[in-house]
Amino acid sequence: MLILMELNPGKKIDLYWFSGTGNTLFIAKALAGFLGENGFEVNLKPIEASNPENVDLDRTTGLAIPVAEQGTYPFIWDFINNLPSPKTYSIDDADVFVVDTLMLYSGGIKGPIKKILEKKGFNLLGAKEIIMPNNLMKLKNQPDKDKLKMKKGAETAKQFALDLISGKAVWKDIPFYSDMMSSFSKNDSTWNVFRNNFPLKVDNNKCTRCRLCERICPEQSWSYNKEENEMKWLKTDCIYCLRCFSYCPAEAITYGKKNYLRHKPLTANAFSVSKYL
Ligand SMILES: Cc1cc2nc3c(=O)[nH]c(=O)nc-3n(C[C@H](O)[C@H](O)[C@H](O)COP(=O)(O)O)c2cc1C
Ligand code: SF4
Ligand code: SF4
Repeated sequence: MLILMELNPGKKIDLYWFSGTGNTLFIAKALAGFLGENGFEVNLKPIEASNPENVDLDRTTGLAIPVAEQGTYPFIWDFINNLPSPKTYSIDDADVFVVDTLMLYSGGIKGPIKKILEKKGFNLLGAKEIIMPNNLMKLKNQPDKDKLKMKKGAETAKQFALDLISGKAVWKDIPFYSDMMSSFSKNDSTWNVFRNNFPLKVDNNKCTRCRLCERICPEQSWSYNKEENEMKWLKTDCIYCLRCFSYCPAEAITYGKKNYLRHKPLTANAFSVSKYL
């Protein structure tokens, strides 16, 4: 379906983002940069520290999210589902766009997201998927290939920004099929497979107790146990965003039995939510 609506130049943009290991934040920053160069004011807002009910419908809403399990993380579904409904407030010009990052195949996540937002009464400006380096169960170190993917990703983000501005952006979907595919990521049992088979572990000989993992985890899955002088991982809420694994300065966190590689295109500081509030 062709979407011919343009970004409203008179409106500020709130770009809500979540990024486990940095790919999506890299793209959100690139998109914000290109839109900024074209005169749009873009505020980057971390989904993990935002209340969806407080989203300002008088501004354009952007969503930048990673694909996970052919859908996305459960708390991101919750955020989208709990966005206010422009219909309820009789607002007919609440605009929204979406960008997602993935390594290969999303199962068509744009479709189910479109369905939710359309039902709420948002104007759909466009949705784009951007291929980025893999961050999950990575066994091969391919820095040049990863760099190239990121460069191409930034170029795609630029084109998407231009398409949004000119009204040429589209929001494609595959009805039914994508709904079915994305349903796995909404289901707790999918995440329990990870939690039970690939538990996160800390090597206490390497761990410096700096507690960075605790500070950057979006789900509060890490805590420091004073009596045992150990970091404890609470598996029930972990969503396997792999932020702690990737950015632990001592590389003390592992998951599963293999020696998976860390993907860290940014610095840990980039995820500090206080920077964006
Ligand atoms: C738990 C998990 C599940 C993933 N599932 C998919 C998937 O279904 N399809 C895909 O193409 N990439 C998948 N990926 C790869 C990520 O979507 C991709 O690397 C993304 O750009 C990561 O973004 P981030 O660095 O912002 O977290 C998955 C990664 C993780 C950690
Ligand atoms: S980030 Fe790493 S070194 Fe720091 S407390 Fe967590 S596991 Fe230990
Ligand atoms: S504990 Fe789980 S949810 Fe928290 S940062 Fe690590 S992988 Fe992400």
